[in-house]
Amino acid sequence: MNGSTAAALRGTGCSVPDRVVTNDWFTKYVETSDEWIRTRTGICERRFVGPDETAGTLAITASRNALAAAGLTPDDLDMIVCATVTPDHMCPSTACVVQSGLGCRPIPAMDLSAACTGFLYALSVGEQFIRTRSVRNVLVIGTDVLSRTIDLTDRNSCILFGDGAGAVVLSATDTADHGIRSIKLYADGAAGGIGSDKLIHLPAKVTLQPPTGERQRNHIWLNGREVFKFAVRRMIELTQDAIDESRRLGLEIKLLIPHQVNQRIIDSALDQTGFPANRVMVNLANYGNTSGASVPIALDEAIRGGRAQPGDTVLLVAFGGGLTWGSVLLTL
Ligand SMILES: CC(C)(COP(=O)(O)OP(=O)(O)OC[C@H]1O[C@@H](n2cnc3c(N)ncnc32)[C@H](O)[C@@H]1OP(=O)(O)O)[C@@H](O)C(=O)NCCC(=O)NCCS
Repeated sequence: MNGSTAAALRGTGCSVPDRVVTNDWFTKYVETSDEWIRTRTGICERRFVGPDETAGTLAITASRNALAAAGLTPDDLDMIVCATVTPDHMCPSTACVVQSGLGCRPIPAMDLSAACTGFLYALSVGEQFIRTRSVRNVLVIGTDVLSRTIDLTDRNSCILFGDGAGAVVLSATDTADHGIRSIKLYADGAAGGIGSDKLIHLPAKVTLQPPTGERQRNHIWLNGREVFKFAVRRMIELTQDAIDESRRLGLEIKLLIPHQVNQRIIDSALDQTGFPANRVMVNLANYGNTSGASVPIALDEAIRGGRAQPGDTVLLVAFGGGLTWGSVLLTL
């Protein structure tokens, strides 16, 4: 990136609800099976929020964990950027809910909506504010509770999603050899479609109620087969592009952390790019697709589990509703 100040990852954290929902649980509502879900998606279970949990409460816990890992307090934060498509309210923003929950100073706090790519978009905002030296420490969050949007009569989609939050503290660094190296972001609203053309659609209504098992209005809807093709194509492009970029920068990608949607999407992209499977972080089996939280949860688990160490270059890749897609290359 340009300039001598870069944005580096100072600490990460995540939070998932305690309630585990198995694949078998869905057989109460739709014709499906544990075997179908495991083999067609790679998902074994996911977490759903309880009655008192929201995207905001998960985000607050994830943020506390990230601050603890960073060795910072809420007072040290200069800004909060929160990516979510399932905010607790349209106003106040989930970022303001987090700011209040953490007891921060009156720093800027805002939400950003880019579906499953949201966390990468939010990272890019934090990175820009740091690089222009406007702020030093930014809390960047991806949090979603898609269980509150699923239609339990639609087997094509209801089995795919889980709830969670991931957070990172981005801090200014003058050290040239670490921090965010490259960010690529894209959107194609025409391809995302509106009306009968839509590929992924979540109506504007915010719901704090859990799904009932009755056919719901305002639920999430997707054309899984078409999204699958889009996701494979974009993940191949993003990964290949980042491999080329890392060579240009003289870096080696130690770990690829893709958006966790479907094991077959990840496998197809690895096949096409030749990226080694043992250098890919996958936790899809435990959480399903947690939308904006998927990449930061996997990033946090990779760091805490020792799969990504200080000095390692990692590649974050995401794609989703909008349509949106993007990548971030960073050295820890
Ligand atoms: C949704 C997804 C798992 C479906 O897998 P797929 O292999 O593409 O399956 P298809 O859509 O081709 O459907 C194959 C059959 O399985 C059936 N099926 C779909 N969901 C099922 C389920 N939960 N259990 C059992 N059968 C199911 C379909 O009805 C279809 O039956 P038919 O052939 O009798 O019509 C896959 O397409 C996917 O992961 N897509 C991306 C998901 C996504 O959009 N995520 C959000 C944005 S990132």
